[in-house]
Amino acid sequence: ITVHVDQPTVELSESLYGLFYEDINYAADGGLYAELVQNRSFEYYPVQGRNNRRDSFRPLYAWDKVETGGGQCDLSVEHSESLNTHNTNYVQIRIQKPGDGVGIANRGFDGIYVVEGDRYDFSFYAKRTRDFDSPVTISLESESAPIAKAILPKLTDQWARYEVSLSPSATVNDARLLLTLGGTGDVCMDMISLFPRKTYNGRKNGLRADLVQALVDLKPAVFRFPGGCIAHGQGLDNAYRWKDTVGDVAMRKPNWNLWGYHQTYGLGYYEYFQLCEDIGAEPLPILPVGVSCGFRKPFQNAEMGKLQEWVDDATDLVEFANGPVDSTWGKIRAEMGHPEPFHLKYIGLGNEDHHTAEFEERFPHFVRALREQAPEIKIVGTSGLGHEIPIYEFMNRQGCELSDEHYYESPEWFIDNADRFDDFDRSKTKIFVGEYASRGNRLYNAVAEAVYLTGIERNADIVQMTAYAPLFARYGFTQWQAADLIWFDEKSVVRTPNYYVQQLFSVNKGDHYLKNESEFTLAPSEDNPPAIGQVGVGTWATESIYDDIQVSDGNKSLLSDDFSNGSANWVVEEGDFSIVDGGYLQSDSAAVPATSLSQTRFHSPNLVYSLRAKKIR
Ligand code: AHR
Repeated sequence: ITVHVDQPTVELSESLYGLFYEDINYAADGGLYAELVQNRSFEYYPVQGRNNRRDSFRPLYAWDKVETGGGQCDLSVEHSESLNTHNTNYVQIRIQKPGDGVGIANRGFDGIYVVEGDRYDFSFYAKRTRDFDSPVTISLESESAPIAKAILPKLTDQWARYEVSLSPSATVNDARLLLTLGGTGDVCMDMISLFPRKTYNGRKNGLRADLVQALVDLKPAVFRFPGGCIAHGQGLDNAYRWKDTVGDVAMRKPNWNLWGYHQTYGLGYYEYFQLCEDIGAEPLPILPVGVSCGFRKPFQNAEMGKLQEWVDDATDLVEFANGPVDSTWGKIRAEMGHPEPFHLKYIGLGNEDHHTAEFEERFPHFVRALREQAPEIKIVGTSGLGHEIPIYEFMNRQGCELSDEHYYESPEWFIDNADRFDDFDRSKTKIFVGEYASRGNRLYNAVAEAVYLTGIERNADIVQMTAYAPLFARYGFTQWQAADLIWFDEKSVVRTPNYYVQQLFSVNKGDHYLKNESEFTLAPSEDNPPAIGQVGVGTWATESIYDDIQVSDGNKSLLSDDFSNGSANWVVEEGDFSIVDGGYLQSDSAAVPATSLSQTRFHSPNLVYSLRAKKIR
């Protein structure tokens, strides 16, 4: 490779390598959000997500009834004396016979992982409703044996929050959290929570330290959140409305997740902004534009007469992030513990929305309102799913600074399309490749993505940001198995080959792209020497990075699309490779001199090839 260090071409944007975070594959509850209790406020119900239906979700999902030593109780989920109007359900325990203790136990996300000697902060809201007058025991148990225990003071007949810390005597990943009662009477409970003290940066209501560390190690410049499809939702009621996700966690309004599960919103916009600070990334929130997801019914558009509340969500978000502490939303940010602004610079509008008349009608209202209120904010539009980028031109006409295009394609597609941006019009809206992946976590996929990123860097004057997708997947809880950047379970984190490619490019990002030329030889490995003059025999070239080579004599292409039957349907194709050192191609029927190479795909079980090529960019 010859690199012309004295010939910089384009500047690489500071924000070129970012992250896309969506709550898919249990990336939030059961993932990044360190809460160990599942369904802590009894708000689960059956859901029909994009990929799966979960009838088993019920208000007592993940909870068991506990009756020990002859004890008996009835459990019911009530809502007549709710904690508040957003958090309507709570559990009521009616003690028939106390025995050695009755109550409830939570299984977490298929077992709670705790570490011996670490601290865990338990909290809940409770009140007694009849003459219950006994203490409440909080314990962790594994295989029916207690590993931590604490006794809480007596309850009153008003809702109140109680907390206590636990320190387990063993490290286990199958613990249950038990709340047990002696005596007689009724007890109501809600917002039952257990957090490890060791969250990232030790924050209350915090995030899993090992998962955040995996993000920090990627040195991301920008963080797109909270989706993805969940941003605009499966029907408007399902859209991600950020105002439901801030303030006291007990006051947040949970929603179901279109990937087929539930969201507590305990990890909400405040926590996302804080996470961005922690990992050193610019926040890029994605807001719905009053148009629900176009891939799954019901397709809904906010009535024009009611669009203002959706537009207000965008302008109020700027105030929440950047406004003074005496502004309506800046005050809430300050009360949550962050009087300083979050310095929001970008807002994304829409996600893969279909190019409908309704979308075209609504989108400009958001652009206008944001320009008026905060002209310094850069607007990121949406180009859609698929490399045809159906609504890029519309985003360009709207004057968006960037537009977000997505594709999930084969590794071959990424290799074939490394030159995708070479001919883009430089005067138009810049590009954010906000979701991409080559549908696999094998090394080959990672290499294909690396090839693509070289093309992006060469075109970094038009491509300003990128992000792989999806980011997280919890084993056993996935809706998107094909490829995810980081896999995890309750205690371990797996960084994929794709992760290391992202890290390689991000951590070593340069300031400028330098003109370069590379020269390479297609050669067999030393372990497997070929016959003289041959460098590869009978392989499906689509399985290797050599699959992007076509041989031609300058005018006429000398390779067919498919050599599998030994026949040759030559295709004429201009190329940007040239043979510098002879070589020949041979099918089982003919030997073919080769003089130049271009980019297209070929494969042949019978092909013998021997090439030396020079690629000039
Ligand atoms: O990354 C998973 C999904 O793929 C996103 O939610 C959506 O934007 C895309 O179609």
